[in-house]
Amino acid sequence: MLPQMGCEAWVVGGWVRDLLLGRPSKDIDIVVEGSGIELAQKIAGELPGGQKLKVFKNFGTAMLRIDDWEIEFVGTRKESYRSNSRKPIVEDGTFREDISRRDFTINSMAISLGKKNFGSLEDLYGGLEDLQKKQIRTPLDPEITYSDDPLRMMRAIRFAAQLNFKIDAASFEAICKNNSRIKIVSIERTMDEFNKIMRSPHPAKGLKLLKKAGLLKEFFPELNAMQGVEVVSGKAHKDNFYHSLQVLENLSQRSDNLWLRWAALLHDVGKPRTKQFDEKAGWTFHGHEFVGAKMVPGIFKKLRLPQDEKMKYVQKLVLLHLRPIVLSESIVTDSAVRRLLFEAGDDIDDLMTLCEADITSANKQKVKRYLRNFELVRQKLQEIEEKDKIRNWQPPVTGLDIMETFNMGPGKEVGIIKTAIREAILDGIIPNEREAALQYMLQEGKKLGLTPVKDVN
Ligand code: CTP
Repeated sequence: MLPQMGCEAWVVGGWVRDLLLGRPSKDIDIVVEGSGIELAQKIAGELPGGQKLKVFKNFGTAMLRIDDWEIEFVGTRKESYRSNSRKPIVEDGTFREDISRRDFTINSMAISLGKKNFGSLEDLYGGLEDLQKKQIRTPLDPEITYSDDPLRMMRAIRFAAQLNFKIDAASFEAICKNNSRIKIVSIERTMDEFNKIMRSPHPAKGLKLLKKAGLLKEFFPELNAMQGVEVVSGKAHKDNFYHSLQVLENLSQRSDNLWLRWAALLHDVGKPRTKQFDEKAGWTFHGHEFVGAKMVPGIFKKLRLPQDEKMKYVQKLVLLHLRPIVLSESIVTDSAVRRLLFEAGDDIDDLMTLCEADITSANKQKVKRYLRNFELVRQKLQEIEEKDKIRNWQPPVTGLDIMETFNMGPGKEVGIIKTAIREAILDGIIPNEREAALQYMLQEGKKLGLTPVKDVN
């Protein structure tokens, strides 16, 4: 349809890159010499109904939605930047100017939609060669590209992690030089890229690059602080940053769950604050799981990550990450297993996956032994769960039952009795059943001087 309209237009950017990489994508960017909005309106007019056109006059763009395809139209443009903002001053420009303002050569290829060259690849900056060489390179001087729009430093590392590409040396040097300019980017945009790195097939690769480029310290000092090894009396502790990355990498081979990956990244975040050296015991990090879990809400808030149940999930896994190890090392009592099931609830399988990923020893025998121990813990968890149904535990006796039985209103006694019943079930003193719990309620009420006014049998 476009060739007949006689306009010069191109598909450009990510869709072309992904087409050449064989990665399916439904987001298409079309640039046109002239008005993107007018072209979009013309095309929408020619199509049978059913598609949706949205016009963004202020940006000079229009978006056409056809089924689950999103096609964005914009006129070719050139950009100039000021030093204190990554938002460019945009003016109309030629196709060449439009292409040269783009971030990476692999994102600067276009496919012509015009009459003359319909379907031909326009590759002004060697993007195809860089795709083959698996490298991230900027079309213009990298100093200018990254300094103009520092978000591109995050994007470069994100593409390296997503595509398993390397960043060209001159580019990496420019990123290192401009790292502090990431401050002019909103934390939301930075974290969008960070989470794309976290979701990528090799998140640890991206995180190592963020560290090496000096970007991590700018927006995530708590994670940055985990790097380093201290030696006292000839004893060194392991580097907690690189250990966490290995755990993250191990976990990423087993799970795509972004928040479980976050739990892997943060499981030891409390270590720098709890580190101590003892001549006899060597390095200790006592209570790092509690300190780490306490740090999670603050980190999530500062990084504008969700404050809802996703944060609580990460916090819970950080808090519990040592518990299965304890179960695997000692003779496991049913009560300890029940307590873990109670606290982890439905996240118990994710917790076990995290613990297995936390095995980073280079000693193959040790790894085998730890994995076997965790397998035993899993079996035990399953056995106890089948028997006692603790995973989604609901109190078999409610506060209302207690109030009605002893003819009283809400008050601290109700809480005391409820807790006593829960503890008795977890300790295996009574089975997790209503009948037994009611009898226990009567017994506990008596201890508090309460008299039942209702028959519970
Ligand atoms: N672009 C850029 N600089 C940026 C963001 C985007 O030069 N900071 C250009 C690139 O040419 C990019 C295109 O705009 O290909 C579209 O950007 P976007 O949709 O954000 O990214 P994609 O490259 O399509 O990749 P993805 O969908 O994976 O984010």
